[in-house]
Amino acid sequence: MIFGFFALIPTLITAETTTNEVIRDYCSLPDAVYADGVSAADFGATGWNYANAANWADLVVTCGGSFQSPIDIVTTGSTQEPVQPQIHYRSKDASVGYEEANKPYTKEYEGEYSEIEVTDASGSVIRYYAKQFHIHTPSEHTIDGKYYDLEIHFVHQAIQDDEQDCNTVKNKLTVFGLMFQESSSATDYEAFKPWFDSNATGEVDSFDLNDFFSKMSDATYYHYNGSLTTLPCSQTVNWVVFQQPLPISTAQLKQFQDFLSDSTLFPIKHNNRPIQHLNGRKILKGTAITAGVTEIPNLEASFAQTVAMAILLVILIQ
Ligand SMILES: *[C@@H]1O[C@H](CO)[C@@H](O)[C@H](O)[C@H]1NC(C)=O
Ligand SMILES: *[C@@H]1O[C@H](CO)[C@@H](O)[C@H](O)[C@H]1NC(C)=O
Ligand SMILES: [Zn+2]
Repeated sequence: MIFGFFALIPTLITAETTTNEVIRDYCSLPDAVYADGVSAADFGATGWNYANAANWADLVVTCGGSFQSPIDIVTTGSTQEPVQPQIHYRSKDASVGYEEANKPYTKEYEGEYSEIEVTDASGSVIRYYAKQFHIHTPSEHTIDGKYYDLEIHFVHQAIQDDEQDCNTVKNKLTVFGLMFQESSSATDYEAFKPWFDSNATGEVDSFDLNDFFSKMSDATYYHYNGSLTTLPCSQTVNWVVFQQPLPISTAQLKQFQDFLSDSTLFPIKHNNRPIQHLNGRKILKGTAITAGVTEIPNLEASFAQTVAMAILLVILIQ
């Protein structure tokens, strides 16, 4: 059953072009499995909300699958991941803006960012491109049962090119989850100002994704196989959830909470999906390399490293 949801579809979708006209072939997500009598047009962007989250599977069968997100991350149950992601986003071209996407259920910015490499569910190191980021409050994931005030999702999608074939990529998306906790001593994030401000123009000129990671003194993360947390709940996500919450000022937290004050879209004033069952999935633990990464290692080097680590592990286990 589960593997049906993972159906690997070799067709490609072409990236929407932004102002810099970069075109990449992104690996398409598995088709959503709709409930009988339901079609995509029935729910669109507004036919569902967080008050009926328990019933999403009545619309899209995938939402009732076994590999759903978010989950509660039980840290004592995690095992060490051999290859850790290296996070180093290229500085954004100042001429390229981040466009605010028209998503009623969150604030989301879309753009063309940098590449990252992450160990996929297939065990291979796969190249993904950061495409958009958006916000949930309170957090979607919990860590040892604890909710945080806000969680940002950086969504990366695998690409098809001369060196990478979508057919070999099991999870088409890698999503980084970063926690934020209200702090009276936190200073406002410059990056959030044009985004959260009710006077926002809809475009952010400068935004360095590295800023968030450089503020983390501990880049411990938890990695598991999961899904989108909104419809159509596609089960094709490498989730990488960072443990250390970043501080957010009371004023900026309130700005986002105010965004959820529309009682039609947000009847319960939050946009986090309830915790889903782990269903026996593994949770891997690692520490991302976020400082001093000058360039992403090439695929061959990463693969050699994976093999070397695997051999080392086998030796150690024996
Ligand atoms: C938004 O615009 C209004 C009217 O131009 C102004 O009074 C207000 O200070 C602005 N808000 C922020 C946060 O800049
Ligand atoms: C994801 O699932 C695959 C099997 O489909 C498994 O081999 C892999 O270890 C899983 N990854 C994680 C992070 O649990
Ligand atoms: Zn999200």
